[in-house]
Formats: sequence, structure tokens, C-alpha cells
Amino acid sequence: MAKSHSAGEENLAVEEASNLIREMKTMIARGLRDPSYRDLSSGYFRSPPTSSSWKNSPTPFERKYAMKLTSANIQDLRALYINNLKKALDMEQKITKALPDLIEKSSDSELKDAFRTHLEQTKGHVSKVEKLLEKNAGHAETETCKVIQGLTTEASDTIKDVTDPSLRNIALIGAAQQVEHHEIAVYGTLRRWAEILGLSDDARLLQSIEKEEGNADHILTQISERVNMQAAA
Ligand SMILES: [Fe+2]
Repeated sequence: MAKSHSAGEENLAVEEASNLIREMKTMIARGLRDPSYRDLSSGYFRSPPTSSSWKNSPTPFERKYAMKLTSANIQDLRALYINNLKKALDMEQKITKALPDLIEKSSDSELKDAFRTHLEQTKGHVSKVEKLLEKNAGHAETETCKVIQGLTTEASDTIKDVTDPSLRNIALIGAAQQVEHHEIAVYGTLRRWAEILGLSDDARLLQSIEKEEGNADHILTQISERVNMQAAA
């Protein structure tokens, strides 16, 4: 049976709908005056508004659209390539910050060494991706990599939740390998895009990073063969 609504609830709904329509009319009117606002058909605007174009403080409705306005404007493979390089830089910077915790919390000397070695490699990856961004975009800025945020949060939770040393070692390996697999996918994709774009120097550099990520993953698999058995004993 359908839920009945009180007169008060209905009035509130009508008022909210009226406010929404009024805000949409305001935005469309602005769009008619400002060419950067006109491409409303896709739900996205062509370019972000300048601060002067907000005559008054933005309403919640306008803020919702402003989130789309600040999205990267990706129109071709080169722009997509640069955008993903920015995400790769954010990813590597976050891994550089996360690895010292993994080194500290692992109780296996071989595993500690593997993490230490990969920390140094990761610092090199940061430099290499910065170099690629400077070459292709003029400056090395980042774009948030949401995947690495999730994976590093998972790793931090694991460190907190698993207190037995042997079990924690294998949990750390599992968390690190999830990161490595993501990195391998990222650099494999970027390398291929660089090849398609005719950026052979970029492709070689990206392949060298991809290879180091693959080696790191391989070493972790080898260590896990022994450490998994210790944890199960
Ligand atoms: Fe890396």
C-alpha cells in the first residue's frame, strides 16, 4: 500500500521543486550571457567559471555542478595520457609515504629488505613520472588517484587489525601485491598509449618502471612461498 504524505510534507516537496527550478533558470540565464556555460546538453560545461562569473555565493545546486566544472577536460588520447600520468605521480607519491610503515611493521628480514629496495625504486618512479609530465605538460602536477587511496587505507587497516607477526607478514605481502598489480596495469596502459602517440622515449621509460613493478611483485611472491607456510604452521 502506498505511503500517504501529510500536507506539510507535500508543501515541502513543492517548495524544494520550485527552488530547484528557480536555480536551474538562473544558471541557464547565466549560460545565455556567458559562452563558457552554454554546453548544457551533456550535463557538463565547456570550461570552469571564473570567480567573477559567480555574482553571488553559489547555491548547493550550483556547487553540485561546479564539481563537474572542475573535472579535467579530456578530449583526446594525449590529454587522457597526461591526466593518467598525473594520477600515476599521485600514486607513486602516496606509495613513497606508505612503504616506510610496511618496512617498520614487517618482522621478516627478507621482506623488510624487499620493501626497502622497492621504496628506493618508487622514489625513482616519482622522478621519472615528473620528468614525463614536465616534458608533456610543462609542469609536474598531480591528479588524485582514488585507487591508491583505497589500497593504502586497506594496508593501514591490515597493519592495525592483524597483530600476530607471521600473519601480519603475509597480510602485508597481500596488500603490497595488490598495489603492485595496480601499478603494473597503470604503466602497461600508459606505455601502450605512449607507443600509439609516437612517444617512443616515453614508452621506454614507462616500460622500465613497469618492469621494476613486475620484479617487485615477483620477489614478493617468492617470499610469500616461505612466509605463508610459517603463518599456517
Ligand atoms: Fe612504482
